[in-house]
Amino acid sequence: MQDSYGRTIDYIRISVTDQCNLRCIYCMPEGCIQKVPKQILTDDQILMLCRCFAQLGVSRVKITGGEPLLRPQVPALIKEIRQIPGIRSVTLTTNGILLKKYLPQLVKAGLTGVNISIDSLNSVHYQQISGRDRLLPVMDSLKAALSYPELVTKLNCVPVYGKNHQDLADLALLAKDQDLHVRFIEMMPIGYGKDFTCCTEDQILMLLEKKLHTQLIPYEGSLGNGPAHYYQAQGFKGKIGFISAVSHKFCSQCNRIRLTSDGYLKTCLQYQAGCDLMPYLQKGASEETLKQMILKAVKEKPMCHHFLEEQKDERKEKEELRAMCEIGG
Ligand code: GTP
Ligand code: 5AD
Ligand code: SF4
Repeated sequence: MQDSYGRTIDYIRISVTDQCNLRCIYCMPEGCIQKVPKQILTDDQILMLCRCFAQLGVSRVKITGGEPLLRPQVPALIKEIRQIPGIRSVTLTTNGILLKKYLPQLVKAGLTGVNISIDSLNSVHYQQISGRDRLLPVMDSLKAALSYPELVTKLNCVPVYGKNHQDLADLALLAKDQDLHVRFIEMMPIGYGKDFTCCTEDQILMLLEKKLHTQLIPYEGSLGNGPAHYYQAQGFKGKIGFISAVSHKFCSQCNRIRLTSDGYLKTCLQYQAGCDLMPYLQKGASEETLKQMILKAVKEKPMCHHFLEEQKDERKEKEELRAMCEIGG
């Protein structure tokens, strides 16, 4: 399926819960007002929508949250999604706390890749950012993930000035001897993310080259569904990636839509644009009707975000009010 700017949409990010067992300062800080859990999509509703997406040309699915592994039966859900004709990959983005326990089931279910969020290898800094002293189980999960060669493993870090900027080289070094890609994500000014100064890609590149004593050479290939671009450091097994939505806008190549855990189909991270599919599902809408709703929403997908601009989109799109944990990143 294509939007009105000629972009092919083949990637859906599905948030299966807005609940989380961490309290990252830029996402759902300790004490923040958490919405009462809403009625969320059932497994059957997610599967029905996945069949519709697949029939419309979506071939890659990302399972995200909140923390997706807090939802019971995620491995069984992934197994079912993986069997839908047309779906070529199902990947998971997780904070890693519960990952080790579920890995055998997830791999058996056909999971193709896992992204683990780790903002620092310094346990004090990790706790300051994530609100919890959970670095050890997360590192155990990372180790366990690396024992499955069929699983593409990536690490996500959001650099924040004054919190973990001094730890980025240590994180990058994990890609030296291990088969994993380390990615630095520019803080997006969404929800609590608005309160922080992020480190930009160019600043991090300079810092890494200095600390690792090596040049980072742009890597031309792509490694996944998403907007990351990568660099190769000499002698490193894995790549160093950047997701720089603010300083290196990638909207012109956007290939994705999002489904929130309460059934809202979001067509852009920054805007409310999209369609609430829950009422249709609850009324027992057919796959044909759902596909029409999806196609209509995709046709109205905004051209791009305007994170840095005072003057918002000329189409007067309404800005997103949901937090990152509700959207699923
Ligand atoms: P893979 O590399 O294939 O695993 O995909 P991915 O990078 O999309 O996966 P992940 O869930 O790890 O997302 C990493 C970061 O990219 C998250 O912070 C997402 O919010 C961000 N991201 C993904 N798509 C978009 C997008 O369209 N716009 C913006 N601004 N950020 C995005
Ligand atoms: N900006 C950028 N990344 C964010 N994440 C959560 N909130 C933000 C934000 N405001 C990251 C998480 C996780 C990924 C799915 O999204 O740290 O790695
Ligand atoms: Fe949880 Fe991810 Fe949000 Fe951290 S960023 S609170 S791990 S959903």
